[in-house]
Amino acid sequence: MLRVLCLALCSLLTSTRADPGALLRLGMDIMNREVQSAMEESHILEKMAAEAGKKQPGMKPIKGITNLKVKDVLQPVITLNFVPEVGIFQCVSTGMTITGKSFMGGNMEIIVVLNITATNRLLQDEETSLPMFKSEGCEVTLVSVKTNLPSNMLPKVVNKFLDSTLNKVLPGLMCPAIDAVLVYVNRKWANLNDAMPVGQLGTVKYVLSSTPATTASYIQVDFSPVVEDPNGQAIELAGNGEALDFPKDYVEGSSQLLLSSTLLSAELTLLQKSLSVDVQDIKIGKLSPQTTKTLARFFRKVAKAYPKPKPLMTQIRINKPPKVTMETDKSLLHLHGTLEMFAVRKRGKAPVSLFLLDVHFNLKILYSVHENRLQMATSLDRLLSLSRESSSIGDFNEKKLTDFITDYLQEAYVPTVNDVLQVGLPLPDFLAMNYNLAELDIIENALVLNLRLD
Ligand SMILES: *[C@@H]1O[C@H](CO)[C@@H](O)[C@H](O)[C@H]1NC(C)=O
Repeated sequence: MLRVLCLALCSLLTSTRADPGALLRLGMDIMNREVQSAMEESHILEKMAAEAGKKQPGMKPIKGITNLKVKDVLQPVITLNFVPEVGIFQCVSTGMTITGKSFMGGNMEIIVVLNITATNRLLQDEETSLPMFKSEGCEVTLVSVKTNLPSNMLPKVVNKFLDSTLNKVLPGLMCPAIDAVLVYVNRKWANLNDAMPVGQLGTVKYVLSSTPATTASYIQVDFSPVVEDPNGQAIELAGNGEALDFPKDYVEGSSQLLLSSTLLSAELTLLQKSLSVDVQDIKIGKLSPQTTKTLARFFRKVAKAYPKPKPLMTQIRINKPPKVTMETDKSLLHLHGTLEMFAVRKRGKAPVSLFLLDVHFNLKILYSVHENRLQMATSLDRLLSLSRESSSIGDFNEKKLTDFITDYLQEAYVPTVNDVLQVGLPLPDFLAMNYNLAELDIIENALVLNLRLD
């Protein structure tokens, strides 16, 4: 019985602990900027001033003071703090000037400085499954009150005014401002779930794997990305259970995006077909002219069969999904496939296959970000294996071809791979993030984008 229970529980545990394909850490730097810009975009200050200027229900007239108006609202200072397991504590320090005419005919001015505080709980919207902040427990605290009223009217009138009016009216006036700002912040997650194109060859969707978690110094968002081909067929993120985690040495308060090698492999699998190409140029890079004469160096039979040199044609077929691996400071793209060389004959005659090799080789990947897409440029790292599958020119020791094939791949094939890779891989679209300034680090099994604000 116990064992059955454990089996059920353990499988539950392992299935919910599937490694996410991408992780995002949002530090205070980004959250501060977001709330600040939401504050500006929402024009909440102007709205607050306009609202405050209106006659408020519950705002009793002050005895002896007429023509009461809110003149201006002070530029707010926003302070945010992470609340572990909850979200963000937000304090908006602002103020306003209330004017009126006193019964003695003089102009009255009351300058009120106040703090609006609320806890913005971080949730996952049930409908859209997007991250969402929801404010709770909004309170308004008066920090200071200054007036130009004659001192004999103080503190009676002002205190009464504050007690009966401001304390009742301000929360209703100010707390919607917090909500309004959050509407703007929440809106900036809206595109996160969208399928983003990887060229014409498929899409990737950054789907949340769970409710984002808040710690004392960051918010962590775990993604289970969905990679699909144009027919809507999902490409499995075939990780081997490697642990994904952020290195410990990032500056407190900074933000990072971590993309697993598993995710990148799945996205490159969309490109697999485009990586199979035919090369038929006589002049390629710094290689000597590619004709049967080139091969005659290795195969005397070729020289005999083609006394007049014929152009070569090479078919490279990638027959396994491309695989990206990463270790500290180094990332490789593994390609498995076949390389078949043909002698091209006169028009109308089919090319003659000379030999077909099984090849496995590595390309070194250099990463960069351009126009908010992850870009990769490769160069040949190593030809790992070469084995002969068929030959029309007799037996030969394929190891003799190692240098020739290595140079060939670098000059004739790598440029094609780099062309294909130019589509770039989409990055999660949230909070209007600009990834172009990100600094990249390659760590064990993942690429880290150190996010920088503009
Ligand atoms: C108002 O907010 C500021 C900034 O967060 C803080 O320093 C101050 O102590 C607060 N004052 C009161 C009375 O809550």
